[in-house]
Amino acid sequence: MEGSCFHRERFPFYLVLSLLLQGRSSTFTINCSGFGQHGVDPTVLGSVFDRKAFRPATNPRVPTQVNISFTMSAILDVDEQLQLLSSFLWLDMVWDNPFISWNPEECKGITKISMASENLWLPDIFIVEFVDVDKTPHGLTAYVSNNGRIRYKKPMKVTSICSLDIFYFPFDQQNCTLTFRSFLYTVDSMLLGMEKEVWEITDTSRHIVQTHGEWELLSINKASPKMSVGGNLYDQIMFYVSSELMPLA
Ligand SMILES: *[C@@H]1O[C@H](CO)[C@@H](O)[C@H](O)[C@H]1NC(C)=O
Ligand SMILES: *[C@@H]1O[C@H](CO)[C@@H](O)[C@H](O)[C@H]1NC(C)=O
Ligand SMILES: *[C@@H]1O[C@H](CO)[C@@H](O)[C@H](O)[C@H]1NC(C)=O
Repeated sequence: MEGSCFHRERFPFYLVLSLLLQGRSSTFTINCSGFGQHGVDPTVLGSVFDRKAFRPATNPRVPTQVNISFTMSAILDVDEQLQLLSSFLWLDMVWDNPFISWNPEECKGITKISMASENLWLPDIFIVEFVDVDKTPHGLTAYVSNNGRIRYKKPMKVTSICSLDIFYFPFDQQNCTLTFRSFLYTVDSMLLGMEKEVWEITDTSRHIVQTHGEWELLSINKASPKMSVGGNLYDQIMFYVSSELMPLA
């Protein structure tokens, strides 16, 4: 269908259009006259905010790469009867919005701004094992760089179910899975990657968790098999979090 109206004569037009789209700086440069000492005038990003319901892509065939990491800051509870792990973590996501770009030299040297996350399209990454209601607080901030790279950290109190065969009774150890996946976007629209190495996630989390409460984080392992749901293929990253009840001092 699309191919049938593709005439030889139109080729230069398509070429120019695609070159324009690739040369982002010429097409989507933000007028930063509103960038000031006291933050950014939100009207300069009006065209980006208006598009927040749509995945930001200049070519819809190119999936958005979302790199994730997390810091587990507390293991709040492990219910061995119900096989529930209740933990608190910060999910860190990084992706590119090709409609945002500005030249720092023309913008008082500003290379990074913060803005209310509710004005932006955000990746709909959720934790598959999550059994509670997502209570993400409002009023979170995202950090946007002049090349359109966005970083967003979201706190999550996660109650997740751990399957029986990965419990290690009677050693007071368990191995629970946290699977991060998009709710809407299949592999054609979203791919997931790692923002940090898994050993970095483990090291940071282990240090913080140890200083909080009675559960010790032992290790985190990672796997990233794609997942088919109802005939659609989704990218996902699974983390196996193993923890142990600390002996009483
Ligand atoms: C940027 O916006 C300001 C104020 O609205 C305007 O005066 C200026 O001409 C604009 N600059 C460009 C390059 O469009
Ligand atoms: C995600 O990670 C890949 C591999 O490390 C890297 O090439 C890419 O630039 C990253 N993308 C973002 C948006 O951070
Ligand atoms: C936890 O379970 C996963 C999947 O079965 C496995 O790959 C991982 O090595 C286990 N972790 C530990 C510490 O046993």
